[in-house]
Amino acid sequence: MNQMGRIYKIVILPGDGIGREVIPEVRRVIEDAIVTVDEIALEIHEFECGGDYFLKTGREWSEQAEYFTRTKADAILLGGIGAKGLDGKTVRRPDGNLAGYSIVVGLRQELELFANVRPVKLYEGVPTPLADKKPEDIDMVIVRENTEGLYYPARGRIKRPDKDFAYDLRLITARGSERVARFAFEHAKERTGAPIDNVKRVTCVDKSNLLAGCQLFRESFDKVGKEFKEITRDYAYVDAWTLMVLRKPEYYDVVVTTNAFGDIISDLGGALQGGLGVSPSGNIGIERAMFEPVHGSAPDIAGTGKANPIAALLSAAMMFEWLSKKYNDKIPLGCAKRIRESIEEVLREGKIRTMDLCLGRWSKVKPSTTKQVTNEIIRKMG
Ligand code: IPM
Ligand code: MN
Repeated sequence: MNQMGRIYKIVILPGDGIGREVIPEVRRVIEDAIVTVDEIALEIHEFECGGDYFLKTGREWSEQAEYFTRTKADAILLGGIGAKGLDGKTVRRPDGNLAGYSIVVGLRQELELFANVRPVKLYEGVPTPLADKKPEDIDMVIVRENTEGLYYPARGRIKRPDKDFAYDLRLITARGSERVARFAFEHAKERTGAPIDNVKRVTCVDKSNLLAGCQLFRESFDKVGKEFKEITRDYAYVDAWTLMVLRKPEYYDVVVTTNAFGDIISDLGGALQGGLGVSPSGNIGIERAMFEPVHGSAPDIAGTGKANPIAALLSAAMMFEWLSKKYNDKIPLGCAKRIRESIEEVLREGKIRTMDLCLGRWSKVKPSTTKQVTNEIIRKMG
């Protein structure tokens, strides 16, 4: 063990469904291949949580899990939240929210993890639905505002004999908009620009032709963006953006948007890079951060061994990169690099992959299981 380095307290929350299949694989990669070789000092704390735990106990997670995660964790790694009950319906809390809501959405708000970073990068060896696009065309990062917008808990339902209505109020603040815009511009500084022209470009995706909140969001974007002379500001309405990104993904570098739009367009981004099986994410705040594959608990394939561990592993790589930056420590960066290089090699070779990637040129490849893919990734890490 590295006596000099910092000891990182990592909270691991597998959650529900395939979260409980991919997260143990991440743990295996971290413990088998990283801790010993890279001499990083990690203290791993794993807790049960989510919809299934709620069914068993009436709580979304234990008090201890909640306390430790909220106050002590340096970084959090989450699998996926969302379980189905015996009736086949999603398990919900008495207030109607998804059981596990306090973890997936609650932590984003309570810990002020205001930037939801969702990279969209097509790796060599991964099939994209865009017939004429190649890995060199698809490499952008979607930064989704993660604490307010439609996800701000100002919602309700009024049900009377004569009236039945629901409301989801969308809250947009200058503070929330400015801090996520600043994050996006700072992030663009570290990148090499858009694939089409290497221009460092931040695109503000909104609906400011109609919505007051989006007008404030765009004003904040401009205000902050003026401080970043070397970065080009770009604008798109969210409806038009979905069309343009399919036609010309190479134009986009960093994209910043409000919460619910970000939820939707990042799944579109997921499709462009080969599906949710390879889509990682980070929920980043000032002091804290939580990393999770975008796929969630995927109850439809849970328990079949079909889940792709790569999205969760890339999320772990993002976690190490964040720790490295935050604590100015090169060791976690080395860990991230080893994970990434090994994933890239396995994808490039194209022989060992889960079913979701056995398409197009790779349609004849015999699908491997979650474990087989991880075994190969660990083997390549040497
Ligand atoms: C995501 C998910 C969540 C969200 C759900 C599970 C609440 O879809 O992380 O994108 O809407 O943010
Ligand atoms: Mn989503």
